[in-house]
Order: sequence, then C-alpha cells, then structure tokens
Amino acid sequence: MNPSDQQLIQAAGLARQHARARYSNFRVGAAIQTTAGKIYSGCNVESSSYGLTICAERVALTKALSEGENEFSAIAIMARDGEFTPPCGACRQLLIDYAPGLKIILSDGINVKTYTIEELLPVAFDDAQLRKV
Ligand code: THU
Repeated sequence: MNPSDQQLIQAAGLARQHARARYSNFRVGAAIQTTAGKIYSGCNVESSSYGLTICAERVALTKALSEGENEFSAIAIMARDGEFTPPCGACRQLLIDYAPGLKIILSDGINVKTYTIEELLPVAFDDAQLRKV
C-alpha cells in the first residue's frame, strides 16, 4: 500500500480512540489529507439529542476547512475492526462539495477498499446547479 495511505489510515485509527460514542457505541475515526500532505483527523461526536451527532468525516473535514485548507487528496475512515464502514449520505454531500475528486480509503483494520467520492455519490447535486439560477 502507498505509504501516505498507510499514514492516513493510522491517523484515522488514532482519532477513533477519541470517539464520543456513548449512545451508539459505534466508534469512528477519519483522517483527511490535503494535497500539500497535511493531515486533519476527526472522530464522531454524539449528543444526548441524537440528531446533533456529528460524524467523524465531517469533523475531520470541517477542522481542515476552518484552518483555511482548500484542496484535499484523500480521506481514510475506520470504524469496527473487520468491517469496512462507508461514509453516510450527509458526509458524502459535504465531501463532494469541498473535495471533488477525493479518494476515499476504507480500512477494516487489515485490508483497504478505495473509491472516489464521485463513485460513492453519483449524479450529485453541487454548486454547478446553483450557478444556473
Ligand atoms: N458515523 C460516523 O461517524 N460516520 C459515518 O459515516 C457513519 C456514522 C457515526 C455517527 C454516530 O455517532 C455513529 O456513527 C452511529 O451512527
């Protein structure tokens, strides 16, 4: 495996340790890499008002965006060992909005599966539609 993918998966695994998942007990870690090679990680943060829960992917992405990052190459996602966990629909939308062309790396702790964000969210709504208004 490409060493930078390996490093990203490791960062996702470390972030998973910080998951605040007391309601679902489903712990998720994500790490997104900028095209310059910087890594921002995130974990899921759950709320007693369940709907306010934030996914690991969106935490990682918004941390990076709020630091002024604009170009991303890949995101790694890890949840349960032995299972591949794909990003939810809401995360796919934000990822395609801010990171078109993004490589999505799913790790089960041993093996990986990779996709592009366009494969995971085909025929997406994006700002191209808004520009027509
Ligand atoms: N979760 C994520 O962090 N990422 C996903 O893509 C799927 C779901 C979290 C949200 C919630 O804390 C828990 O997993 C169960 O849905």
